[in-house]
Amino acid sequence: MAPERLKAPRGTFDVLPADGERRRSLRTAAERLLGGAGYAAFESPVFEDTALFARGVGESTDIVSKEMFTFEDQGGRSLTLRPEGTAGACRAYIEHGMHKRPAPVKLAYWGPFFRHEAPQAGRYRQFAQVGAEALGSDEPSLDAELILLLAELLEQAGVARLRLRLSSLGDAPTRAAYGEELRAHLRAREGELSEEVRARIDENPLRAFDSDHPGTRAVMDDAPLLVDHLGAADAEHFATVRALLDDAGLAYELDPTLVRGLDYYTRTVFEFESAALGAQRGVGGGGRYDGLVEQLGGPPTPGVGWAAGIERILLAAADGDEEPEADGPVYVAVAKPEAARRAFALARTLRPALDARVELEQAGRSLKGQLKHADRLGARAVVIVGDSIEVKDMSSGEQRTARDEHELLRLLAS
Ligand code: HAM
Repeated sequence: MAPERLKAPRGTFDVLPADGERRRSLRTAAERLLGGAGYAAFESPVFEDTALFARGVGESTDIVSKEMFTFEDQGGRSLTLRPEGTAGACRAYIEHGMHKRPAPVKLAYWGPFFRHEAPQAGRYRQFAQVGAEALGSDEPSLDAELILLLAELLEQAGVARLRLRLSSLGDAPTRAAYGEELRAHLRAREGELSEEVRARIDENPLRAFDSDHPGTRAVMDDAPLLVDHLGAADAEHFATVRALLDDAGLAYELDPTLVRGLDYYTRTVFEFESAALGAQRGVGGGGRYDGLVEQLGGPPTPGVGWAAGIERILLAAADGDEEPEADGPVYVAVAKPEAARRAFALARTLRPALDARVELEQAGRSLKGQLKHADRLGARAVVIVGDSIEVKDMSSGEQRTARDEHELLRLLAS
């Protein structure tokens, strides 16, 4: 009996070559953009102690209460595949004494994250995020800079029909006082609420803003709003962030009902959505988390950052035109078996000399088959290695003999 064929686990996917190339160019664009603003490459482990997320992201969040891939290692320690990157970045900041470095410490990352959610288009159990965090300064220019960098990245990636929602949650005491006021409002009209929201009044009243239950929505339409309760310093901070975005000409919508699914936020919060996506329209989001480092045992340290989903960026950009490769590769064809070693060496010489993609025949095709394959690859030229070395220009069809490597390079460069 033939062995059973295995498949990738539910909610995961393989990145096949065409997508791999799109991901690679997105990563290059992100690194260039973030690097240009001083965000240095940062990596943290794919798994961390479970306690990091419980304390950092919040026990009552969906992420921690329902969506974590948690397991015990051989030593009985509880580990979790990271569902997000901010808690790990703060853990590393504390662990490596980065508070002693000149502020702000700017970190950029790209890598896999894991959440046990119901899979659908744009929502996976393993997905990739690009992210940026700035630690050690509460300057509003960092909030604005980060929002503008994400806007630029999404625009460069060709993400269509974008909308930016922006709000401020104030500091922790403001949030706590507001939480009490909101709880009182919810309790006063408990009978109109959905069962889920009712069960969470104590734990997480803010989540009621996310509900699409009609009764709950009616209650929330009359709910007090946090932006009306900001203290003077928080209001001024938020006004400066908005002024910097206005100066940069970036459009946004003030949305006091914006609730992010993580507990660590203070002050600025934002989310980019694309109408090109279905139900999972959040392409990227983030905000300030001025209490998180301290909550994880570090010194009081403000921080701000964002993360964006690579798969969602590419899905939302999929409508756009595919970028054709500006210059096709050079193809090295083998005219007869005795020429294979020379062709192999030649391909290795040509790659650095031309600083271009050079493909080599590696599947035992006939010369005719090789020329057909080169055409399919969009090759601009084919180097035919046999008794002599010929260069065939694929657009004109013209074929010329190269007497030596020097002449070959000249012919390929022209
Ligand atoms: P988040 O909003 O939970 O924020 O995730 C950021 C982005 O990751 C989302 O906008 C979405 O594009 C993508 N994403 C999340 N879950 C999935 C999934 N199951 N499948 C595909 N894509 C997904 C954070 O993670 C925060 N750490 C952002 C942050 C950084 N805040 C401050 N600094």
